[in-house]
Amino acid sequence: MSTPAAQLAQQHWNETPLFLSESERYGIYPWLPRAAEFSEHRGERVLEIGCGTGCDLLQFARNGAHAVGVDITDQHLELARQRVIGEATVLKADGANLPFPAESFDYIYSHGVIHHSDRPRAIVEEIFRVLKPDGRFNIQLYAAHSYNLWHCKRESPNDWRIRIENSIAAVHIDFYSARAARDLVASARQVRVRKRHCWASVRGHDISWLSQRFGWLLGYYVIVTGKRP
Ligand SMILES: C[S@@+](CC[C@H](N)C(=O)[O-])C[C@H]1O[C@@H](n2cnc3c(N)ncnc32)[C@H](O)[C@@H]1O
Repeated sequence: MSTPAAQLAQQHWNETPLFLSESERYGIYPWLPRAAEFSEHRGERVLEIGCGTGCDLLQFARNGAHAVGVDITDQHLELARQRVIGEATVLKADGANLPFPAESFDYIYSHGVIHHSDRPRAIVEEIFRVLKPDGRFNIQLYAAHSYNLWHCKRESPNDWRIRIENSIAAVHIDFYSARAARDLVASARQVRVRKRHCWASVRGHDISWLSQRFGWLLGYYVIVTGKRP
């Protein structure tokens, strides 16, 4: 079922695909390789939901995981396939309706995706279904309280929702407090919630040192990890 949010996502990212080189991406998100656990899943079956253009998916594969990425946007899928060239599997599928049998993956990762869905609980139910009994998830969501959001609302009070995605088209966006993130995965075990990243500049001056010191408080991403129920 294609929901309004899925249609907006496809329209936006088909028109303006989001492609960063590896050095650009991990320059902007220096904390991501560790937070995503790229090097900790050798030999495991790893699923990425909303793999975009495949940059993170490639890191799991290069580190020895059997990596599978799904996304709903054709342009992103095409760029992801070109990037991973045979090192990982890339499929078109909605996170709320995964084409995999129950208990197929050891680890499921999703960065910057579930807050663009109007069926976040359906995606989480699918994550729980396709994880193996002791499998773990790592979900990264926009934070309800962050320097970036505050700055964006201040600079663009009327169109901050569009600005925040660097887009000209509207996409569905939700923001999650730590509590809302915990509620989303309420039945999961060993849940841990952290915040990361508040890259920032003030009047043209780079103050990204803030992300090192205050990411836990002002960060743009809420990271929820845990084991399926
Ligand atoms: C902001 S991009 C992030 C892509 C990638 N994870 C990254 O960090 O670069 C959001 C991605 O989520 C995908 N997406 C949105 N809703 C989805 C859904 N219900 N199932 C699978 N992918 C979805 C979009 O097509 C898009 O590629």
